[in-house]
Amino acid sequence: MKRSMYAGRVRTQDIGSQITLKGWVARRRDLGGLIFIDLRDREGIMQLVVNPEQVTSEVMEKAESLRSEFVIEVTGLVQGREQANDKIATGRVELQVNDLTILNTAKTTPFEIKDDAEMTDESRLRYRYLDLRRPSMLNNLKLRAKVTHSVRNYLDELEFIDVETPMLTKSTPEGARDYLVPSRVSQGHFYALPQSPQITKQLLMNAGFDRYYQIVKCFRDEDLRGDRQPEFTQIDLETSFLDDREIQDITEGLLARVMKEVKGLDLPLPLPRMTYDDAMNNYGTDKPDTRFEMLLQDLTETVKGVDFKVFSEAPAVKAIVVKNAADKYSRKDIDKLTEVAKQYGAKGLAWIKFLGGEITGPVAKFLADIAADLTIHLQLVDNDLVLFVADSLEVVNTTLGALRTRIAKDLDLIDQSQFNFLWVVDWPMFEWSEEEGRYMSAHHPFTLPTQKTAHELEGGCLSKVRAVAYDIVLNGYELGGGSLRINQKDLQERMLEALGFTPESAYEQFGFLLEAMDYGFPPHGGLAIGLDRFVMILAGEDNIREVIAFPKNNKASDPMTQAPSLVADKQLEELALKVESHD
Ligand code: AMO
Ligand code: AMP
Repeated sequence: MKRSMYAGRVRTQDIGSQITLKGWVARRRDLGGLIFIDLRDREGIMQLVVNPEQVTSEVMEKAESLRSEFVIEVTGLVQGREQANDKIATGRVELQVNDLTILNTAKTTPFEIKDDAEMTDESRLRYRYLDLRRPSMLNNLKLRAKVTHSVRNYLDELEFIDVETPMLTKSTPEGARDYLVPSRVSQGHFYALPQSPQITKQLLMNAGFDRYYQIVKCFRDEDLRGDRQPEFTQIDLETSFLDDREIQDITEGLLARVMKEVKGLDLPLPLPRMTYDDAMNNYGTDKPDTRFEMLLQDLTETVKGVDFKVFSEAPAVKAIVVKNAADKYSRKDIDKLTEVAKQYGAKGLAWIKFLGGEITGPVAKFLADIAADLTIHLQLVDNDLVLFVADSLEVVNTTLGALRTRIAKDLDLIDQSQFNFLWVVDWPMFEWSEEEGRYMSAHHPFTLPTQKTAHELEGGCLSKVRAVAYDIVLNGYELGGGSLRINQKDLQERMLEALGFTPESAYEQFGFLLEAMDYGFPPHGGLAIGLDRFVMILAGEDNIREVIAFPKNNKASDPMTQAPSLVADKQLEELALKVESHD
């Protein structure tokens, strides 16, 4: 029989209709001769009743044999329910079954198919198709589809052209390792899976497309975290002839559209903006969570004269004040925070408590002379806890930035209903990499330097070069980033030189881009938003795995398919590859 509708959509207006439903048995209960079945499909759960007086003994037998996750087809009459269950949308109706067919059986599942079921992360990924049967997962993926639908509508209306760019391509450096794909035809040669379609989308601007977008898979072989997967999706866009503010305006419109259509919220525009320097100085991070205060306070000058070398001789000393929390943190709790601080490179964590008008704690004696200053400077009131880090400015910022978010979570200071979007602007072009011993791009090598600072590229000070780049931050996550790009060949060559490329190596890697700059490359710029992160935040989840149908675990492997896997010798031979060793 043809299905009439989804089980989860049956309502009181369907009472009296004869309908056919198909789905999974969520639960079976036998009560006084009647059999009650909860039937689940993608739209919800509906109660079925099998009454021995209304069905053949054959149907009754089938109903008795049902177990969880059997797939069935049922036909029957929709009727009102004597005792309504207002917890579910179908709670006022039930189906009086006349006929039942078992379409497939099921073994006992490794975990129960319900939202609060107990299961390990590994088991969820091993049996992902069962995990995805849980309503919360299904809803996350529906939300994701709603977001992409909304994004497409918006960008289509603005006449962005959706273009697919290649997956087998040449590596474009975005700061992560590439996933490589060996070529059979050109032995010893490799494609790279795109870390992003950065250069390709720029070439589409050269081609005159004017406005491009793509919801596109990107691949980066980097250390995994809650907000990073090796394979993830960007909402990628690029435009010609617009300035940075115009591109930001288009992006704001997109974010507002999604917030309205998906969450029913009006996003006040324009979004706030903050310079990179302010973000680092006040929040200790380039992606500040502005849903709570606890800003970093600079005390470097205030502590210069104290008799405590850790402070007086440090290049930078900063503090955060945890309001009304002195009684909430025991020494043991602070020891735990100290461990966190050490993970970020700090040598220690000094603290004082402001109690009864006095500062107390192990370093209080060293600060006695400046106690009054500190009290005013930090606006201390009774029961405040102050945490200090003394080190290089970078270590001080990152450590206190991390402690700030950690403490806000511990003390539940964050209003989870808020969505705080923020532009971070005025980026440095380069970051010094201790590991590589050279300057690296803060974004990527195609970013346009500001007019005021571009001359620093010519034998000047690279740390002074600023980029026309912008990141969009949401609730402490880097949601997306973009920039205006270089379209002049000589500037692009200078940029690559500054990044340590010789003219030969620059041409070897980017010759095709440099060559394109000989043929009327228009001024252009764009941005990419991390779709997985966006949906994760909208869904109130804290790991992007929860909004990706088939993600990888933190070893970048898939416990279900067992990818990555060994391959047959024949395949390796065809590719002229030899594997030296494997785990
Ligand atoms: P960027 O490297 O900043 O910029 O990436 C843009 C956004 O993509 C998301 N993202 C990730 N999401 C999940 N897992 C990952 N491993 C991962 N890496 C990045 C983030 C990030 O903000 N081509 C440029 C954009 C441009 O300049 O137009 C780019 O890729 O949300
Ligand atoms: P010490 O003099 O090494 O015993 O340290 C006294 C206190 O200062 C301890 O609470 C240390 O954790 C803390 N401390 C040590 N080094 C630093 C630092 N670089 N920044 C902040 N606190 C520190």
